[in-house]
Amino acid sequence: MLGIDTSCDDTGVGVVDDGRVLANEVESQTALHARFGGVVPEQASREHLGVLDAVVERALDRAGVALTDLDAVAATRGPGLVGALLVGLGYGKALAWGLGLPFVPVHHLEGHIAAAVAGSGLAPPFLCLIASGGHTALFAIHAWDAIEQLGRSRDDAAGEAFDKVARLLGLGYPGGPALAALAARGDDRAVALPRPMRRQPGFDFSFSGLKTAVAIALERDPGLAPEDVAASFERTAVEALVDVTRRAAQHTGLAELVVAGGVAANARLRATMEMAGLHATFPPPSLATDNGAMIALAAERRLVDARRRQDEALGADAVPYLPLAATGEPSASA
Ligand code: KG4
Ligand code: ZN
Repeated sequence: MLGIDTSCDDTGVGVVDDGRVLANEVESQTALHARFGGVVPEQASREHLGVLDAVVERALDRAGVALTDLDAVAATRGPGLVGALLVGLGYGKALAWGLGLPFVPVHHLEGHIAAAVAGSGLAPPFLCLIASGGHTALFAIHAWDAIEQLGRSRDDAAGEAFDKVARLLGLGYPGGPALAALAARGDDRAVALPRPMRRQPGFDFSFSGLKTAVAIALERDPGLAPEDVAASFERTAVEALVDVTRRAAQHTGLAELVVAGGVAANARLRATMEMAGLHATFPPPSLATDNGAMIALAAERRLVDARRRQDEALGADAVPYLPLAATGEPSASA
């Protein structure tokens, strides 16, 4: 299975076989967008268009797989920047059609979840926290086709907050990894910041107030040590994520937790989840941020499910008196 992700600013192509990642090539546009402090959508689409063919070739080379060895092709259909999405989606469809293979359109977040559970043997039901640059949400995954959203960010995504605070500290884009590295050297109690949504019922998040609090603190005292600001912000943001997740775990009774999305790469988040007694599964760092392998992994699971349904269909018995709809009353034909 070959998977393509062009939802934002990374051109990701992965090749997987039966849950094993054979190749995962990511061509990052970071340098291109860095000088604007964020992703410029039109630039991102053009860049995907320019490099996708070469990234596909590289992924196949790395996997030691020829185009003719592929059994299916998958691509992200959304959510994301529409121009960027169209490049990977159109490419994936054309490749599948040209090779006479099945094409699997994949939800980007399903890819992040697949990356986190891959190789863990974990299956629904579980609780899932997705924290990326574009999304922050909590889901109860009762089954792969029964996903309940428990809460979401009312404003900025967690990764977006990391990026914005990193920008305030002059760390460049994307800021998450740079901010985390700086935070490791700082005092996480040095700057008092309000914990977002504290004592609020429900499972929603909010991060824009926290970012503003950092901006105000820096304005008031430009002499604050950047590493202390980074550490205090990181602790507060992570505690907010963990606090809501812990309450959701109690509320749903779901014992297993999956943490997915780019912010899942954050070491403090992992440590704090553990300290809170949450049994969490994280993606390996190489699969945490946007990539093509996660799309291929999600697509593989879809195909396996479809085959299982087909097997079940082939086992269907003949039923002479078969109601079309359940009425709650005894069958009229009896
Ligand atoms: O999942 P992802 O690659 O893209 C989206 O689908 O949005 O997530 C990217 C986000 C960025 O905001 C980035 O700053 C953040 O994940 N990120 C981190 C870390 N690594 C990436 N945030 C905190 N700590 C990290 N170590
Ligand atoms: Zn993502």
